[in-house]
Amino acid sequence: MSEPLTLGVAGLGTVGTGLIQLLAAHAPRLERMLGRSIVVTGVCARSRDKARDADLGQARWFDDPVALATDPSIAVFVEVMGGDEGPAKASVEAALRAKKHVVTANKALLAKHGIALAKLAEDNGVSLNFEAAVAGGIPIIKMLREALAANEVRRVYGILNGTCNFILSKMTDEKRAFGDALKEAQERGFAEADPTFDIGGFDAAHKLSLLVSLAFGTTIAFDQIEIEGIERITTADIEAATELGYCIKLLGVAVSTPDGVEARVTPVLIDEESALAEVSGVTNCVGIDGDYVGNLLLVGPGAGSKPTASAVASDIVDIARGLVMPPFIRPTAALATAKRLSGSANLGNYYVRLSVYDRPGAMASITRRMSDENVSLESIVQRRHGPVHPGQAGEPAPGHQDAAANVILITHDTTEDAMRKALRAIEEDGNVTEPPQMIRIEDL
Ligand code: HSE
Repeated sequence: MSEPLTLGVAGLGTVGTGLIQLLAAHAPRLERMLGRSIVVTGVCARSRDKARDADLGQARWFDDPVALATDPSIAVFVEVMGGDEGPAKASVEAALRAKKHVVTANKALLAKHGIALAKLAEDNGVSLNFEAAVAGGIPIIKMLREALAANEVRRVYGILNGTCNFILSKMTDEKRAFGDALKEAQERGFAEADPTFDIGGFDAAHKLSLLVSLAFGTTIAFDQIEIEGIERITTADIEAATELGYCIKLLGVAVSTPDGVEARVTPVLIDEESALAEVSGVTNCVGIDGDYVGNLLLVGPGAGSKPTASAVASDIVDIARGLVMPPFIRPTAALATAKRLSGSANLGNYYVRLSVYDRPGAMASITRRMSDENVSLESIVQRRHGPVHPGQAGEPAPGHQDAAANVILITHDTTEDAMRKALRAIEEDGNVTEPPQMIRIEDL
């Protein structure tokens, strides 16, 4: 039997306690599998007194994560505190410099400092493993690093934020309000400490930026990702999409071309019959198009205590086996510089929802603005009439001038640039009661 592998765990929230529970529950089988035990010898969290659903055993308590990261008693520093600067960054750097292996679930930290940290790990001959940082329990990093290592990956995409997918699913399936669904996601431990990271699309973009680097062999370029969250998706959009045979998802998509990488995280409409439409609740999925393997879709839990702990533990198991690999699959010196490619000139179909003043010529003006930009319409649905100010629904409608029609347009292939110009002109013409809503239709 080899020496036990000693861990210092910084962060005892959803992921940290999940990990400690897993290591306790699976101690005998992991020991048989690895020929050595895995022992948590040190822990650190913000509050020592907080009641926790995990037995910390004989682990020593540290108030300072940097002290834990560099303590001679640990071989592996597990950072599950979160945050892209401050204690997380300081302790991970200190651990790597002290030649400790590091396992982290911290996508925000990696999206910002991943390459520098990977270089530090390389220079010190230790691991920097982060399977839990992307798509929770789905083993996408090991898949790219091992099973798909011989492929050139051309596209990577997916549902990368469990909280957003949970909210959109609840709004669609149970007609729940946005805030109500978000509250439940927070209570169930899916959401980030600051949920604007989730609903604003930033968490998904952190993960997509890591996937881009891993899949395409580039440096990380979080700031080159077009990001839009789900805050502006309304129940009117959910209802209209459902009526038209679509569902709304927050999707990350990155495409590698000889000229650069196009990457975006945005809400999209997808066909309700597509495989991605089946991915509901906190479930994530990651699609990979490789030149030899073809198209793969991995589906699994994207957040939550147990799935994330499963991913963190798999990284610890690699270290226990003595595997040390380049964090971003290739040595950092072999990563190409990320080059952004804007997708605004690419062709695609769009969904548009307009709240139009119900008066003569309004629709004619709207369709003219579309044709001015060469946008051809596939369908137009006028869904219902209502007062301009829905809050005054009880008052008698004074006439057509003050009524609004909800108009849903689906376009044929056009560019985002053309759509933005047409919608700007429509808004300036004054025929709409509120800014137009536009969502790309993704053919996946
Ligand atoms: N807040 C994240 C999510 C947790 O909802 O997907 C996992 O990264």
